Formats: sequence, structure tokens, C-alpha cells
Amino acid sequence: IRRSLPYIAAGTFALSGCSEMQSALAPAGDEARRVALLTWILFAGAAMILLIVGIALYLGIRGSERSRRVLGSDKAIKLGGIAFPVVTLTVLLGYGVWLMRGTIATDQPGTLRIEVTGEQWWWRVAYAGRNGTAIAEANELRIPVGREIDVVLRSADVIHSFWVPSLGGKLDMIPGRTNTLRLKAERPGIYRGQCAEYCGGPHALMAMEIVALPDGEFEAWLAAGAATPTGDRHERGRALFESAGCGACHTVRGTQASGVVGPDLSRVGARRFLAAATVPNTPENLARFIASGQAIKPGNLMPEFKIFSDDELGALVMYLVSLK
Ligand code: CUA
Repeated sequence: IRRSLPYIAAGTFALSGCSEMQSALAPAGDEARRVALLTWILFAGAAMILLIVGIALYLGIRGSERSRRVLGSDKAIKLGGIAFPVVTLTVLLGYGVWLMRGTIATDQPGTLRIEVTGEQWWWRVAYAGRNGTAIAEANELRIPVGREIDVVLRSADVIHSFWVPSLGGKLDMIPGRTNTLRLKAERPGIYRGQCAEYCGGPHALMAMEIVALPDGEFEAWLAAGAATPTGDRHERGRALFESAGCGACHTVRGTQASGVVGPDLSRVGARRFLAAATVPNTPENLARFIASGQAIKPGNLMPEFKIFSDDELGALVMYLVSLK
């Protein structure tokens, strides 16, 4: 163990350098701030108790005759072993419940609602667009900064859990049930989230991003979402998309493709990541995902399409990239 200590220390240090995009200790919203505060209080309390127990242990073994007698007495055991934990844990429970106040969403008019459905192994995202149109997205939630958002959580199959540590959470997505989580981002930024309940196979690769935008930018994005995507200049790719039957599982607004099994691709070209935040959304990764997606995300439910020549794959990818 002693020999591996430097490696463990170096590893811990390296991990601590990970970006704060997904950290409960880098709060960017009220909810997350409360969780961070509670975490630090628990950490400080636990450190103090460790210190006290350490000192008591030392005095009980190596201390004077008198301290050993005091620490070994019935009274010390009743006080330290029963009364202290009961009082401390009760106070902590009460404090925790008090901190949770206001985190359960109540229907407030004017609150933006975003519906997120957990599926194996991605996130279906739906907004009510301006003129009543539904806007479907996947694995990426855009929200306006400084506004309360009600995230309506459901599951299509098994239990998932929605958790974006910097903004708050986590809350389970349970089949047959609707849970609502209230979130608010205090500053613009990109916050990473992760499915926090083991949901089979590639659970670890079920991530997402929340992109918090200034109000005006968000509204513009939402308004643009109702428009029919472009892609007209990529007839060949579009024809391949249709002939290969992609539309049986995916929707592209304004085309024949209206499948609802997989993610809506109407604006796939505008997404930052593919496969539930597994790989960056580049033409190379898109091509890889279509032809050999199991290598990127083992266990994912999309079959590999090896029927395309390199040339055809390129045309198909160009079409998808153009959908914005
Ligand atoms: Cu979804 Cu774990």
C-alpha cells in the first residue's frame, strides 16, 4: 500500500483538476448551493467527530489512570455512544428537511416547464414552443438564466435519475410516475448531468448537458425550434436517410421521417454531443455512430448500419449536420 500511495495521491490530485462542469461543490443555483452547504457542514462535523474520537481513543489507551477510568465509565459510554449520536443525527435530519423546503415544485403560472423522459440510455426532452408546437430535443436542455424551471421527469422503461450537480437535484424518474424538479441557473454556462440510477448496460454513458443562456438568446432559440429544419441542399443524404428507413425510429420535422423510438433529429446538427453526451458531435463521430455505434456506446439500442459505402455515409452525415 505504501508504494502505491504516491499514485493514489497523484490520481486524486488529477481528478480534483477535472472541470467543474459536473460538481456538487461548484453550485450555480439555489438548490445546488444548499446541497453544497450541507456537504461542507457534514464534512466539517465528521472531521470534528473523527478528531474527538481519535483523542478519546488515545487517552483511553495511553492516557493517565484517571482519564482511562472516566472514558471507560458507563456514563461516558451512554453520553458518547447513545446521547451524542441521537442528538446529532436528529439535528442533522431536521436541518436537512428544513433545507429541502421549496425544492418541491408547486404549479406556479409562468414557470417554464421542460419535460424530460429517461429512456435506455438517453434523455428525451420536450418543450412547449411558442405557438403551441412541441419542440423535441435530446440529451441537451437549454434554459434561460435566472428563471425558475420546472423539469417534469418521467421514465419510458426503467428507473433513471436526473442529476445535474451544479444546479441541483437529484430526482428519480420512475415508470408510471411524474416527478417535478425545480431548477434555476444563476449564470450562463454549460452544466453537465448524469443518470444517477443504474439503469442497465451503458448507464454510465447516459449523460446530458444543460446549457444556460441569457433570456433573449433562449427565446430566440426556442422560436427557431418551431421552424422546419433546412437540409434541402443535401438531397442525396436525405434520400439515403429515407431509403434506409431511418425515419422509422427518428423524426425530422417537415419530412416523412416521423419515428418516435429514437431521438428527434430535426436539429441534430446543432447539438454539442452525440449518444447522450458520450462523444462530441463531429461528422466523424456521426459516421462512426451510424456504422459502428456499439464501439462508441456498447449496448445502445440503435442497430449498426453497415450498408452504406464511405461515400454514401459521407452524404448522409452531411445531411444530418445540416439539420439545425
Ligand atoms: Cu439511466 Cu442510469
